[in-house]
Amino acid sequence: MKQSKEKYTQIIEPSLKLARMRKSNNITINHFFMDPKYLNLGAGKYYMIKTYGCQGNLADSEKLAGILENMGFTKTDNELKADFVLFNTCAIRENAEDRVYGELGRFSKFKKRKNDMLIGLCGCMPQEEKTIANLKERFPQVDIIFGTHNITSLPAYLYDALKEGKKIINVLSVEGDLFEDVPVVRDHSKKAWVNIMYGCDEFCTYCIVPYTRGKERSRRPEDIIKEVEDLANNGYVEVTLLGQNVNAYGKDFIDIKYTFADLLKALHLTAIKRIRYTTSHPRDLDDATIEAMALGGNIMPHLHLPVQSGSNEVLKRMNRKYTKEEYLDKINKLKKAIPDISFTTDIIVAFPGETEEQFQETLALVNEVGYDGAFTFIYSPREGTPASKYPNDLTLEMKHERLNRLNEVVNANALRGHQKYENQIVEVLVDGFSKSNQNILTGYTKHNMLVNFENNTNQQCQIGDLVNVKVTKAYSWHLFGEVINSN
Ligand code: 5AD
Ligand code: SF4
Repeated sequence: MKQSKEKYTQIIEPSLKLARMRKSNNITINHFFMDPKYLNLGAGKYYMIKTYGCQGNLADSEKLAGILENMGFTKTDNELKADFVLFNTCAIRENAEDRVYGELGRFSKFKKRKNDMLIGLCGCMPQEEKTIANLKERFPQVDIIFGTHNITSLPAYLYDALKEGKKIINVLSVEGDLFEDVPVVRDHSKKAWVNIMYGCDEFCTYCIVPYTRGKERSRRPEDIIKEVEDLANNGYVEVTLLGQNVNAYGKDFIDIKYTFADLLKALHLTAIKRIRYTTSHPRDLDDATIEAMALGGNIMPHLHLPVQSGSNEVLKRMNRKYTKEEYLDKINKLKKAIPDISFTTDIIVAFPGETEEQFQETLALVNEVGYDGAFTFIYSPREGTPASKYPNDLTLEMKHERLNRLNEVVNANALRGHQKYENQIVEVLVDGFSKSNQNILTGYTKHNMLVNFENNTNQQCQIGDLVNVKVTKAYSWHLFGEVINSN
């Protein structure tokens, strides 16, 4: 590979301000096409993608892997063998960024030993202006930098880097059109991510996502339905529909009226055995979606419904556009329509100005809903978001103390929720083997609970099988059980 000390060649500076210019909802759908000149560029070379952050990034990485394998690259898990290492990054909290910088430091050292190694960085971090400046100053070893809106251009960037020794920064501040038929190498042979929309229009005051991922753009329903049908025909058992706010699906269509509930109802009729979706915004979750979920069957009885806080004042400052009462009203409707539904959520503690009383309202809400699990975070200021300018006089110690208290309440609720399944028989989609003990299998129930289980029957269990497991013990974060014969 040609190496160059030359400066970065293509620079389109990102700008948070620009990303707010959201004018058109006329979206062009492109079909991915690989120029034949890129097809053998990766022959004999190894790639490695390191993914950080949400399911959206995991799904993007599967597409990036598909593009690279189409170019002839082969995947490796051996860091020293990789000719191209791509960091697909997350900007949601500062610690996610710090981890990437730590890894870049390590890989920059490898690169000194293997100086034809190419390093790429994409995803949400480069969509922030400060990242570009930081990388240029601290990590000039990074060869290719691109953002969330141009992953399909990777072949061209690699061509320029490999053939012409160029260093590339190409970050688009305004979201691009949609691409269908992007090649994909999925991490799992039975479970698939299916993007249904991209971007977010909510602008919660703490969140960087609307700036890094752009405005909401929905894929056409026929493309999504076809993808799910093809997955079912190819032996996939479960799909998870992905979007930052799936309940806003279809709002950007100007020629048809088609909502998330319509999509769920259509997918209910396909042969796929399990359908999940994430993430929902409580304000946009409507009665029609609850009705669609109540159809049951292949629509799983689990909902991840981020609440963020149990205090109306905090919710207002977060620009969440619902009150605690409205949230609980939806939870109660869901419980009525789907009596065995399981809920999980996201919660932020120590948002600027959060008082002890307001924090306690969050604890009370966790107990009232009875979540089976929650992702809990300490608020992390993100440059360019409104909340980063709000005064916050909580000490680090207070922030951690609140997080610990919240986690105790979350864990107690999760344990109670899991204990309901003790001595019950649950259907588990076999996912693989436990990392620590090969005699133990792992998988998820319909309610999205992780189960570790033994198989002492004469029945073979394979990845992708749906098996009946008797739960023998419940823990806060998983269940334990044993396979029972299916006949
Ligand atoms: N600080 C802490 N947590 C955040 N999240 C989003 N932005 C921030 C931030 N600035 C959390 C929210 C969201 C989840 C994906 O990440 O809880 O639902
Ligand atoms: Fe961020 Fe709010 Fe959009 Fe979720 S809904 S991605 S928290 S802005």
